[in-house]
Amino acid sequence: MSEPIRISRASVKKPKPKDRELSFGTVFTDHMFVMDFQEEKGWYDPRIEPYGPLSLDPAAAVLHYAQAVFDGLKAFRGNDGKVRLFRPQKHLDRINISAKRLCIPPLDPELALKALVTLVGIEKDWVPSTVGTSLYVRPTIIANEAFLGVRPAKSYLYYVILSPVGAYYPEGMNPVKILVVDQFVRAVEGGVGGVKTGANYAASLYASEDAKHEGFTQVLWLDGRERKYIDEVGTMNIMLKIDGEVITPPAGGTILAGVTRDSALALMREWGLRVSERQIAIDEVAAAARRGTLEEVWGTGTAAVISPVGELAYKGERIVVNGGKIGALTKKLYDAIVGIQYGTAPDTHGWTVVV
Ligand code: COI
Repeated sequence: MSEPIRISRASVKKPKPKDRELSFGTVFTDHMFVMDFQEEKGWYDPRIEPYGPLSLDPAAAVLHYAQAVFDGLKAFRGNDGKVRLFRPQKHLDRINISAKRLCIPPLDPELALKALVTLVGIEKDWVPSTVGTSLYVRPTIIANEAFLGVRPAKSYLYYVILSPVGAYYPEGMNPVKILVVDQFVRAVEGGVGGVKTGANYAASLYASEDAKHEGFTQVLWLDGRERKYIDEVGTMNIMLKIDGEVITPPAGGTILAGVTRDSALALMREWGLRVSERQIAIDEVAAAARRGTLEEVWGTGTAAVISPVGELAYKGERIVVNGGKIGALTKKLYDAIVGIQYGTAPDTHGWTVVV
């Protein structure tokens, strides 16, 4: 039996935005989950308290050496009024995998799930209901020991905050324009690209800003060694359909094991599609486009769910995908995943947890 979760309620409640006003990650709910770790005690004092600033020593290890991990998942309100978390156990497994790589002590998965369900339950009224909106859940672990030596910290803070969100990209389901970068890389073999840690996102900013200035929504990353194989697209996993085959680079190594990626692969395999998790060179993609066999390209991620790619720019060449329109499989995947998330399609995989 895990420790009971202490609850102290906020005395003042914030106004809730209208569904149509929602963007991504700007508004936060009234409460958050918090738990501490000390070497001698393990994780202790799980609690839900009013949302508010953290108190951190300026010497806290996270602020200097980025010893931190996070994850991101969503709760959806269905037509039936029920609130469902999408694959929370899978996200909690992943935060523990990320934590191990960053020398952070693991969470008890049972307590962590109970914490998510209890917190989202308390904040149920914050879950928006329009399709395309959801409550984004951000579990985070930071090293909060005040110590400037470089070694794993002896104390940590785990917290979970919630944010009602709309579309991640203002384009929504309109295909995005992507710049293939070969001057910068996101991750290298043996590094931390395969786990969810803030440093990966910090490292991505410079190239992403460059791409935005040139009129692109995001970048397509290539591998760090040869700058030849495709890696991720922006903050998402990438999938391509070429001549009837769906291809996505293998997770692990430099590529995050996306939960939406995993869900999309499972569905496409059930639909009898030919699906390969293998490396694919950007030159192979360009050659397919010239031959007319590059059928569809899309990104998968929790924030955007499925994001169609309409154009890739590589070394001055414009690779237009499906005439810049969303492809049939991209749309089918989006509808299938969203159907399960909002409870309008049967959850045959047991992916949702009703709050
Ligand atoms: C995703 O869900 O696709 C992400 O990587 C989240 C992002 C806001 C960091």
